[in-house]
Amino acid sequence: MHLTTLSWALATLLLRDAPLLDSIASQSSLRIDEFNTQGITNTAWAFAKLPFPAAALTDDALAAVMRKLADIVDIEETKEANAHLWAMWRTQGSSSIEEEFSRRALCGNLPDSLVYSFLLMTFEWRGCACGSVLESFIWSGNLPSLHTRQEKPVVDAYKKMGQLMDYMAATLHPSPQAVLSRIESFAHGYGQWLKVAGGDKALCTESSLNMCAFREWETMLEYGAFVGYSSVRFGNAVLGQMRSHTCGYRLTSCEVDPVHACVARSHIDMAALSHVVEVAVGKLNDTTPLLHERAGTWACTFGFMDQRGTAFHQDFVHLEELMMLGVHSRVTADNVVKPGAPCFLWALRNILPHRLGACQNSTFWAMTEFAQEEVEDWQSVTVLM
Ligand SMILES: C[S@@+](CC[C@H](N)C(=O)[O-])C[C@H]1O[C@@H](n2cnc3c(N)ncnc32)[C@H](O)[C@@H]1O
Repeated sequence: MHLTTLSWALATLLLRDAPLLDSIASQSSLRIDEFNTQGITNTAWAFAKLPFPAAALTDDALAAVMRKLADIVDIEETKEANAHLWAMWRTQGSSSIEEEFSRRALCGNLPDSLVYSFLLMTFEWRGCACGSVLESFIWSGNLPSLHTRQEKPVVDAYKKMGQLMDYMAATLHPSPQAVLSRIESFAHGYGQWLKVAGGDKALCTESSLNMCAFREWETMLEYGAFVGYSSVRFGNAVLGQMRSHTCGYRLTSCEVDPVHACVARSHIDMAALSHVVEVAVGKLNDTTPLLHERAGTWACTFGFMDQRGTAFHQDFVHLEELMMLGVHSRVTADNVVKPGAPCFLWALRNILPHRLGACQNSTFWAMTEFAQEEVEDWQSVTVLM
């Protein structure tokens, strides 16, 4: 119990103490039979989250944890399936359990919709045609019955997505502006609100984007595509610059939810912006390094963080550790007051100035929430100089 709590805490705090982790791994291996399912899951997750030295990866201890995990993985067990699969993939690469999950997904026979996100990510990364087959399953509504992140039946979790798709199908003369207006009118009327950065928030993010002077190799990053509203907005703004400067840069929008990713892709297609904007499916921990590999060091000139406020500080540090943010990069974070990003705000003042050097400046803009005039929220804009 203490071992699993300890490894979970070290991974949560991103404390990479290799000797300590090595001894936790060997002790865990000795007592693995005493661990319950949650203990195994937490240990596997912690080992997968922290980058281990190569020697530790081949350690018998880790192999024992993973073997035990493979024994207990129950494909029907909705709550743990995605975490198990992800932990095994991170530490061992492709495994027979992944093959079984893939087989079931392609028969439309998986319990947890987030497993689709993981599989879509791996298929797309490998350039495997199964990615399109899986995407068509998602489109055909052949989804599993549960959405474990929201812990409610999947038909309820995605009800609004279905209504939005129906509403969008009646868009006349599709264009970026038509797509944006139609999503806004859905949020103001029939859909009764959508969590997109429209209204004042759109003005603030877009003016921040327009202050970036992109060079040929530079790129933009969005964390949280949702229905692709802000992706279309940014893509359209960049398109204007591309025409005048013939640049090759583009926006990558990262999204963990496979249904949101498919809906966003559809709106981006409808806006004829697929050559400018792409949606990367998967967890940010996995997709961000991929972008770094593609775009290179210091290539992220503009970033928009609109995923989960409680993770902003970690995701920002990850970007900085990968050296994706260069001089003049601008990062806008939404919802820093509501629902809130207290750790990120604290880090902006107390940690990031030391990590980034003295030359960074954060400005906070107060504004109304999109389609909720009575609610005040803030966006932070951080500029590296
Ligand atoms: C507020 S919505 C984004 C709205 C979008 N930026 C817009 O204005 O149109 C947040 C999205 O972030 C996604 N998300 C949350 N945590 C994430 C993570 N760790 N990685 C990737 N996407 C995440 C959610 O699934 C959701 O679709």
